[in-house]
Amino acid sequence: MDNPFIFNGYESAKLFFDREMELETLMKCVSSKTDVTLIAQRRMGKTGLILRLIDELKSSGSNVTPIYVDIFATRDIAELNKYIANAIVKIFPDDTSAGKKLLGMLKGLRPLFSLDPLSGSPQVQFTYQNQTEKEHTLDGLLQFLEQQNNPVLLAIDEFQQIREYPEKNVEAMLRTFIQRLHNVCFIFCGSKKHLMADIFSNPQRPFFSSTQFIGLDAIPEVKYAQHIQRMFSDGGKQIDSDAVKYVLDWTKRHTYYTQRLCHDLYELKTDTVDIEAVQGCCDNLLKLSEPYFLQYKQLLTDGQWNYLIALAKEEEVTQPYANSFLKKHNIGATAVARRQLQTLIDKDLVFVETTKERTYYRVADLFMLRWLAREY
Ligand SMILES: Nc1ncnc2c1ncn2[C@@H]1O[C@H](COP(=O)(O)OP(=O)(O)O)[C@@H](O)[C@H]1O
Ligand SMILES: [Mg+2]
Repeated sequence: MDNPFIFNGYESAKLFFDREMELETLMKCVSSKTDVTLIAQRRMGKTGLILRLIDELKSSGSNVTPIYVDIFATRDIAELNKYIANAIVKIFPDDTSAGKKLLGMLKGLRPLFSLDPLSGSPQVQFTYQNQTEKEHTLDGLLQFLEQQNNPVLLAIDEFQQIREYPEKNVEAMLRTFIQRLHNVCFIFCGSKKHLMADIFSNPQRPFFSSTQFIGLDAIPEVKYAQHIQRMFSDGGKQIDSDAVKYVLDWTKRHTYYTQRLCHDLYELKTDTVDIEAVQGCCDNLLKLSEPYFLQYKQLLTDGQWNYLIALAKEEEVTQPYANSFLKKHNIGATAVARRQLQTLIDKDLVFVETTKERTYYRVADLFMLRWLAREY
């Protein structure tokens, strides 16, 4: 039997675990044309959930046409246009009537067509005279979706990337274009919480209060434990319940890391996976990633590296400038700590999580957290 624990991409509803409530909410939003903001930590399962939703729309016979675009690699509006255009071209092949219309519309925008050398799929790019043309193209692409007979879902992953664009007023422009649409519903997805929150919940910003928020927490412990047990027994394998508990604690139920560890455990040839086997697997995983972690050591100052180790050792820190914390880890003055922590957050090495009860700081990569805490 194939390994039922995937940790890379989306394969099928069967291998995608839980998230039923979130999926149901998303389905409702799509059918009521409510735009959604999906925010959660990296590797918690946002992209997976969007792909699961698209799968569900298709298998349930919905008339909605889903389009997915990841804009992480885009640097300006021209590239945003290129990515959106390519996502649309993929969905409307040029031998369909919508595809022909799309080609007709694109022709007016002076496109350059080519084939992607790797995948062989068609690629489109535009040439522009000026800024207005870029905006006009974006509007044109969205208007094309608006004119479809069937409703369209446009899911934009890593949406906070628009904050990096050099152009002014990107949000205002996008919001204006989007507001005109009645046949297109949006999912704006992102990991950088402070940026996403500023785009969608700051009263001074154009997108303020325009969407419904959906978050993704860790999958509940009992549920995840039962799932892991069941996957093992379905495959004719065994795992001790205290071994499962160890897995969930060690990975903090952060989906990617839990899936990754379970994947490796499932590959073991032992009769029963016990705690020792789990610990061996954890060691292996950390060893594999060591060169990658050490690269970061090169990129950081000694002070930043030391601060990162301190955070790792404490696992989660609610008062990152408290005297006792700074003293215990030889960090230095509050002002220094403040700068170090900010750099680590900016580099995505540390995240800030705010729950109803508290705000805390944590090393973002869980395997890196475990490695730092062990090595230093
Ligand atoms: N509910 C889930 N069931 C099974 N695997 C999941 C689930 N959510 C996420 N994963 C796995 O974890 C990996 C990371 O999730 P991803 O969706 O890429 O996170 P994000 O987009 O939030 O960074 C995915 O590639 C997938 O293999
Ligand atoms: Mg993602």
